[in-house]
Amino acid sequence: MGEAGQEPLADASSDRSAVGDLLPASPAKRDRTNRGGSLHLADVNKSFGIVHVLKGVDLAVEPGEFVVFVGPSGCGKSTLLRIIAGLEEQTSGDLRIGGVLMNGVPPAKRGIAMVFQSYALYPHLTVEKNMGLALAQAGVPSPEIRARVAKASGLLRLDALLGRRPAELSGGQRQRVAIGRAIVREPSLFLFDEPLSNLDAALRVGTRIEIAKLHRQLGATMVYVTHDQIEAMTLADKIVVMRGGAIEQVGRPLELYHRPANLFVAGFIGSPTMNFADGAIAARAGATTIGVRPEHLVVVPEGAWTGTVSHAEHLGADTMLYVEVPGMGLLTARVLGDVSHDIGDRVGLTPQDGKIYRFDGAGNAIG
Ligand SMILES: Nc1ncnc2c1ncn2[C@@H]1O[C@H](COP(=O)(O)OP(=O)(O)OP(=O)(O)O)[C@@H](O)[C@H]1O
Ligand SMILES: [Mg+2]
Repeated sequence: MGEAGQEPLADASSDRSAVGDLLPASPAKRDRTNRGGSLHLADVNKSFGIVHVLKGVDLAVEPGEFVVFVGPSGCGKSTLLRIIAGLEEQTSGDLRIGGVLMNGVPPAKRGIAMVFQSYALYPHLTVEKNMGLALAQAGVPSPEIRARVAKASGLLRLDALLGRRPAELSGGQRQRVAIGRAIVREPSLFLFDEPLSNLDAALRVGTRIEIAKLHRQLGATMVYVTHDQIEAMTLADKIVVMRGGAIEQVGRPLELYHRPANLFVAGFIGSPTMNFADGAIAARAGATTIGVRPEHLVVVPEGAWTGTVSHAEHLGADTMLYVEVPGMGLLTARVLGDVSHDIGDRVGLTPQDGKIYRFDGAGNAIG
């Protein structure tokens, strides 16, 4: 393996050391006209010993789609991604990439590239060498490596940095190199596991926009895990909401926002989170539980509900009012701009027309 045998820059873990394993198929075998591969999971289960981590996952991803997995910590997002990559084998179920059954197929033969939270670059190699390394190892001729690295570095605005070593780069630049290293392999499927979570807020926004552009330009299929609602809402063609190893709902971002299938999705998608109330107030609406999003509550002198402001967050562009309403509990209202209400004020709250979500006793959406 030569120089590449040295440790990557990031701390070692099974994820990171596996990056180098996800090499491309030899160039001759790659179908360059197929820009994005489809992905199909059928009844995929995974157990670690007696712990059943993934419970019958079914999922179809169309060629060129950008799919984002979200869900609470420990729900199985990374495990599912690692199964798609071939870094972990499912206990049962079928996995197809581009229509081809991938059960038992090693990572390097799946036509995928994976980008992790940690960049795992080789510290002694330049940006150019880091990006081209996998191709060199796969025996791709040097002129082709140079051409592919030049194309990727152009897309990622890394041209001026090709001669630098990782230590001479910012965190955001390193992450772009890690993404570039995936691009040069021309995979049919990109897998990202929280690739931006090491970056500060400004860099996250910049890199998020770059990933969106990249997806448009490459037309590749992308599967992306994140904890960040804004990343999920802005990048995804389709969001997969997971909970406890199972899929709760799959849909376009605004579909999930406007028509959550159940209480869990309603509470998970949207920030600040939806307000819920049950008891008599819900029963009057013909539901076991009702929900109203903070941005759909209007603060008025005399509203449908009356309460006392218990906390206010003045963010400049908007204000979060936390209002204690007898019989309902604490409701969050998001008001545009700065408002003068403060702790102890009595305010009325009225939901906007048609913006009440209703759920039955099993937690499923009604109507
Ligand atoms: N190698 C392993 N052995 C045993 N249990 C594991 C192993 N890998 C993961 N798990 C368990 O499987 C469950 C799912 O883990 P996973 O890493 O997929 O979650 P996640 O959704 O990616 O969480 P996070 O958002 O925190 O990254 C967790 O309960 C975890 O403890
Ligand atoms: Mg994870």
